Amino acid sequence: GNTVAAWKTIADNEHFYGFGERTGLLDKRSERQTNWTVDALDYNTITDEMYQAIPFFMALRPDLCYGIFFHTSHWSQFDLGASQPGVWQMQTHSGELDYYILYGPTPDKVVAAYTELTGRMPLPPKWALGYHQCRWSYDSEDVVRSLAQEFRDRRLPCDVIHLDIDYMRGFRVFTWNPKRFPNPATLLKDLKDDGFKVVTIVDPGVKYEPEADYEIYEQGLEHDYYVRQSNGEIFHGYVWPDRSVFPDFLRPEVRQWWGDSQKALTDAGVAGIWNDMNEPSMNDRPFGDHGDHIWFPMDAPQGPADEKTTHAEAHNLYGLHMSRASAEGLERLRSGERSFVLTRSGFAGVQRYSSVWMGDNQSWWEHLELSLPMLCNMGLSGVAFVGCDIGGFAGNATAELFARWMQVGMLYPLMRAHSALDTEQHEPWVFGEQTERICREYMELRYRLLPYLYTLFWEAATSGTPILRPLLYHYPNDAKTYHLHDQALLGPSLMAAPICRPGVEHRAVYLPEGIWFDWWTGERYVGPTHILAHAPLERMPLYVKAGAIIPMQPVMQYTDERPVDELRLRVWSGMGELTLYEDDGHSFDYREGAWATTTYRVSSEVDRTTIAISAREGNWTPPARTVIVELVGVGEQQFEDDGSDRSLTF
Ligand code: GLC
Repeated sequence: GNTVAAWKTIADNEHFYGFGERTGLLDKRSERQTNWTVDALDYNTITDEMYQAIPFFMALRPDLCYGIFFHTSHWSQFDLGASQPGVWQMQTHSGELDYYILYGPTPDKVVAAYTELTGRMPLPPKWALGYHQCRWSYDSEDVVRSLAQEFRDRRLPCDVIHLDIDYMRGFRVFTWNPKRFPNPATLLKDLKDDGFKVVTIVDPGVKYEPEADYEIYEQGLEHDYYVRQSNGEIFHGYVWPDRSVFPDFLRPEVRQWWGDSQKALTDAGVAGIWNDMNEPSMNDRPFGDHGDHIWFPMDAPQGPADEKTTHAEAHNLYGLHMSRASAEGLERLRSGERSFVLTRSGFAGVQRYSSVWMGDNQSWWEHLELSLPMLCNMGLSGVAFVGCDIGGFAGNATAELFARWMQVGMLYPLMRAHSALDTEQHEPWVFGEQTERICREYMELRYRLLPYLYTLFWEAATSGTPILRPLLYHYPNDAKTYHLHDQALLGPSLMAAPICRPGVEHRAVYLPEGIWFDWWTGERYVGPTHILAHAPLERMPLYVKAGAIIPMQPVMQYTDERPVDELRLRVWSGMGELTLYEDDGHSFDYREGAWATTTYRVSSEVDRTTIAISAREGNWTPPARTVIVELVGVGEQQFEDDGSDRSLTF
């Protein structure tokens, strides 16, 4: 039929990473990975098809790394020696074999080349880097107001509140529920004054309502925007609003309409859109009737008139193009302001339009542990802005699990807690005082690290670099990092070794070559070595590399609570360099040159460390501030920042 395949040799010491959204551990050697988007509800470590389908991987062995981008949106599959040891295979149903080989020879070069090809993420608004609180659902204005109040009263930093499906009128997209949310604009204005942004969920299924005056349904019908079957009849499936029809996002006019329809939300002050169920997920019967998952018939025509295809080719692209509609629409509607977009499903290049979360995880220790390799493999697949539901979506977290999850969540590029309908609440204060205190400490650390994090987002936007990285990314010649799934680097300098099991207060930590320092105690280690880290509940083991420069700011309750009047550079002696990126954090002015970069270089000799600061570049001037340069364990010096170059000696 249309199946084509290619086979290549696997080297003895070769390992495989990337593959988009994947459960299990880091390395996929000896596994089979299918690229076909599904609602992966109840996924576990052996689940193959996931919400995202990204037919890309990198092969790594000491001294060599290359990437393969299988350029097909049809069903495809990689077999990394599962059926034939020593041979990897790729196959697709597209009828043509079209793939790119991306030569490294290091993982960073492969990711850079892959994202040059498939695109890079836009710089998000800075508030999107703050803490997000979500639940299915904060289902009325009162509930949302008191939630916001709790955060501020308890001094737990938070920037974003997500509204799940119950804000809508009977799950009709682009509507507000008049009983639960009678005055959304007033609510969102009050929240805004208190430093909160609101993100609303949007599902692709439009309620089928022929007689009922539902404008969105009628508009789509009138303009023929819904997916039809090959016999010409409009396709129906069942989702939250019951019988539903589905826009064909492959057509530009459909994306335009959908993007503009978000006006019903942005007019009320919504600052971001969370795109869900866009694999697309649907049943053959109403939800609750034990129906089966279905999708559009494979021969259903989709796409613009001059480039018509069938669902067989369009399936994996549905979430990507829904996110695209969303992102492009928000840019039109919220003129001058950056927006936040989140999606569950996507394809290669999804990073151009949206951040991604790993769908419906569980409140299990296994899923906490799974989160790091999942997000690291996403980062290696070009998608840097990613997160998992902190605390676990389905089920109930214990206090201990939640505390440990918040520690790990602090490392997620997207830091969002979420929980499902009919579960216990998952806000940081519901587990008692000790958990709340631990959550606060790590949420505050997240906010203190914002200048560092924002710089990492800028690097991701300009060169595709992952924000959260497996150690193999920086130590590709050290085979000990090839299976290290439970340690991760936040940027080049901060390395975390979280606890992912109950009752555990010690763990082995691998420190690759070089000199390392304990973030908390300052203790010095010489790698490569293994150490036993002490990690009582309030402590997530965290390390910095010699020569690290980490820019930090004071704790804020939300990202733009007040101008940053104090920038602290924590520097560890050694040799190192950091270029700090800054801009206003919310507008597009940076595209016209309103940005600033400052390069800091540290170099240590036997008893002397010099920190050289370059003159600030770019056309953005930060607010008046004191810069404190702290040579950790030695002392600090400070000066008023006038952007000029200078050199400090310790
Ligand atoms: C899906 C989403 C989940 C959301 C729920 C209700 O399960 O993955 O995050 O809360 O739908 O909208």
